[in-house]
Amino acid sequence: MWVRTLRTWSGVIFATYVVAHLMNHSIGIFSLEAMERARPYFQAPFTSPVLFPLLYLSMFVHMALALTAVYRKRTLKMPVWQAVQLILGLLIWPLIALHIAGTRLVDLISDIEPNYPAVINSIFASGNLVVVKYVFLIFVVWFHLVVGLHFWLRIKPWYPRVMPWLFGVAVLLPVLATSGFLRAGMELNAMMAANPGLRARILEPIQTSHLPIVRIVYDAESVMVIAGLSLVIMIFLARFVRGIWRNKSGSYRITYYNSGQKFRSPVGQTVLETLQEFGVEHPAVCGGRGRCTTCRVRVNAGMEKLAEPNETEARALARIGADPSVRLACQITPVSDIELTPVLPPNTSAADARRPGGVSGHERLVACLFIDLRGSTSLGEQKLPYDVVFILNQFFAEMSEALRMTNGHYAQFAGDGLMALYGLKSDIRDAARRAIEGGIEMHRRIGKLNEILGGELKEPLRIGVGLHAGEAIVGAMGPPAAPIISAIGDNINIAARLEAKTKEFGVPLILSKALADYAGLELSDYPLETVPVRGRDENLDVYLIPEPESLRAALDSTAAPPVRGQVAGTAES
Ligand code: FES
Repeated sequence: MWVRTLRTWSGVIFATYVVAHLMNHSIGIFSLEAMERARPYFQAPFTSPVLFPLLYLSMFVHMALALTAVYRKRTLKMPVWQAVQLILGLLIWPLIALHIAGTRLVDLISDIEPNYPAVINSIFASGNLVVVKYVFLIFVVWFHLVVGLHFWLRIKPWYPRVMPWLFGVAVLLPVLATSGFLRAGMELNAMMAANPGLRARILEPIQTSHLPIVRIVYDAESVMVIAGLSLVIMIFLARFVRGIWRNKSGSYRITYYNSGQKFRSPVGQTVLETLQEFGVEHPAVCGGRGRCTTCRVRVNAGMEKLAEPNETEARALARIGADPSVRLACQITPVSDIELTPVLPPNTSAADARRPGGVSGHERLVACLFIDLRGSTSLGEQKLPYDVVFILNQFFAEMSEALRMTNGHYAQFAGDGLMALYGLKSDIRDAARRAIEGGIEMHRRIGKLNEILGGELKEPLRIGVGLHAGEAIVGAMGPPAAPIISAIGDNINIAARLEAKTKEFGVPLILSKALADYAGLELSDYPLETVPVRGRDENLDVYLIPEPESLRAALDSTAAPPVRGQVAGTAES
């Protein structure tokens, strides 16, 4: 986990510097002088005693972690975007070595200030090939950064909103920076042509320095490039040696239920790496970094031999509320045969990854609330359509507010009623109690609404609320363009039936004993009925609540019970 955090934040620090540096370059579009005058503002923070070492430390840490990741990868088969980012990352060091030696090293070992006129002069005086190399460097660094940021941020919920703006910046900034750099170089060349002594004056500090600066810079570049290349070669050599020895650790077999294929893999290789090695199209939006959860698999056999989830995996699984049979293919390294089923389809997108349930859903203990507005048909007969829509919108506004106040999740709309879920992000104890609070709050708000609408209505608005809790399949459902997180299953149907029974029993709220037990409520003062429920073999114990507000006292006076796996008499989906 800390490795991932370190890699991310070292990249962010370096990216911040690159953005500031390219913005400074962009000012060269106006003039070399403007570019140089702006330099202290863009670079001063990064030359401070704190940020200067931090910047270079971040750069080295980021490179070291990237190389470590290359070593640790059991296979170099990877998605195209990952390969592009890796290659760009490897190119940066040999390209940037001369720039670092010619600026930071010169600054450290001499009195010469590596300002824009001096640096641009030395680049343009070195010939067109060097100029092209620097332009290439700008684009290599920039696209490495942009690809990394995109694949880091694309699973964030807010990212789609800001992406068009970021895309604009991603395209414009390197173009403006390159234009500024070239424009400043041409301006300097024109000044040199008009004033032949100028080049000598700019280069004078270097030529008169007691240190052979130029030689040191080029020697340093050679050392840095050779050291970098040696390191990369060593990493690949180490991979090769490991490949020779790895079969000694044994192997395991993956049975992939989607296709019925079987793959043999050396121990130590993750399931995702093996699937990619064999060309299986398995979703992996974050490229195996344990962030997106799209690689999740249901383990059908072999779970008992798997190591416990590491911190990265545990956090990711907790975030999506995965059940215990689900693991991340990019994080597990089986030591014996394993059988698994992919949870998400191969074409899963970053948007799917952001959904709590994912596209194919997962089982979860939830509390479900159904509400129905009584007499809405007669409302339509008494009122003009405009008035009916107005009243219904008022009604839904109040119900939505009740959900918001009690952490309920709106899951379905049905003309004059709705379904809500509790417990998508909390445990079932809290979910059950919140659902009861939601039912109470809805009744309170209907009372208020009746007071406001008073004269408009022949008879007050009334609602029926049904509450039940149990396992359900939760996931994004609905038309592809507008799916919402909802739930299906027997327990959801039961909640709907209980809402319908409020009419039959003439009470405003019915809750199942199962939900009351999950909530830890003692409701012996309320009538307990055992009722048949359509579509279910066994009868169900339910409490009839004639006065919902009275449940507040029961909630206040009871503490939540410990978590239980299941409650007797509760159907399983
Ligand atoms: S590939 Fe993203 S979590 Fe496994």
